[in-house]
Amino acid sequence: MPDELNFDGKVAVITGAGGGLGRAHALLFASRGAKVVVNDVGGSLAGEGSDAGPAQSVVDEITALGGEATADTHSIATVEGGRGLIDTATAAYGRLDILVNNAGILRNAAFEDMDEQHLEPVLDVHLRGAFFVTRPAWNVMRAQGGGRIVNTTSGAGLLGAPGFSNYGSAKGGVYGLTRVLAVEGVKYNIKVNAIAPFAATRMLSDSMGEPTEVSDPAALAQMQAIVAALDPSLVSPVVAYLAHEDCPATGEIYTVGGGQVSRFFLARTQGYVGGHTLSLEDVRDHWDDIRDEKDYTVPADTGDESQSVFAAIARGRVT
Ligand code: NAI
Repeated sequence: MPDELNFDGKVAVITGAGGGLGRAHALLFASRGAKVVVNDVGGSLAGEGSDAGPAQSVVDEITALGGEATADTHSIATVEGGRGLIDTATAAYGRLDILVNNAGILRNAAFEDMDEQHLEPVLDVHLRGAFFVTRPAWNVMRAQGGGRIVNTTSGAGLLGAPGFSNYGSAKGGVYGLTRVLAVEGVKYNIKVNAIAPFAATRMLSDSMGEPTEVSDPAALAQMQAIVAALDPSLVSPVVAYLAHEDCPATGEIYTVGGGQVSRFFLARTQGYVGGHTLSLEDVRDHWDDIRDEKDYTVPADTGDESQSVFAAIARGRVT
């Protein structure tokens, strides 16, 4: 195909690529010419243990298909692990163009049971892990004149879901990290975006519970059909496009799964201006105006938001 997008000469690091979504991303990048570093510690869904097998088996799959890949088994949940992973990439291929922060674990609990054994490992892998890998990658990309980073957030964090207070905190942090790095990356030609995926992986099966828990056969059949449609490889084209140099986006979040793709964004309502006499009762009486979604705007960054706030203040009280 003449206008096919490819990654010839590019090097991509994908964390947690020994299975699930990361494996699908690795296979797509490799099939389009990227040299791929397949990172995976090979632990359980809760983040226990390690196994070099999953990362190596994805590398074997890629090489069997004629692609080029290297396995890496560092845990990205530490500073040393993050640095070790990026060193693997530069030692193997001498450069780094794309980083996909995808590794993840799950330790759900009701908030009243959410102790530090649930919280810390989840923050370590999703949030600190993204930080620990991105910092050394950033320095390589800066020196090279640019790069692309795709983070993995989640609807459970951005929108809320019961039992996910640790995970939601981590994934909300990944959202903030994405936004800030996008702004900082402008002057280095580093673009940073994120996805909130849906895919039938071990993680989704665990979050959804056993299908047998659904008693209505029609509802069960519908749920099984939807899960069957959530092939992880239907998420990877969005990750690959966000990682491609033709993609102009930065600081954006895409919700993707089962072949559908949409953008999530944080918007600002037109709101209400009470001026210097704004009172508690004004807030009560104008609650609907404050919340009215008509003519909302989407601030690009905090400078943009400040301009809207200052313009509204300058307009003065609207009665
Ligand atoms: P998965 O459990 O199949 O894959 C996650 C991979 O990360 C595993 O292979 C695991 O060994 C690896 N990993 C965990 N800790 C690691 C560490 N410290 N160092 C290196 N590798 C590590 O799960 P899935 O679904 O593929 O998840 C991928 C990402 O997508 C995660 O960040 C997850 O939170 C996110 N996500 C997935 C959703 C879904 O519907 N499957 C929904 C929303 C977000």
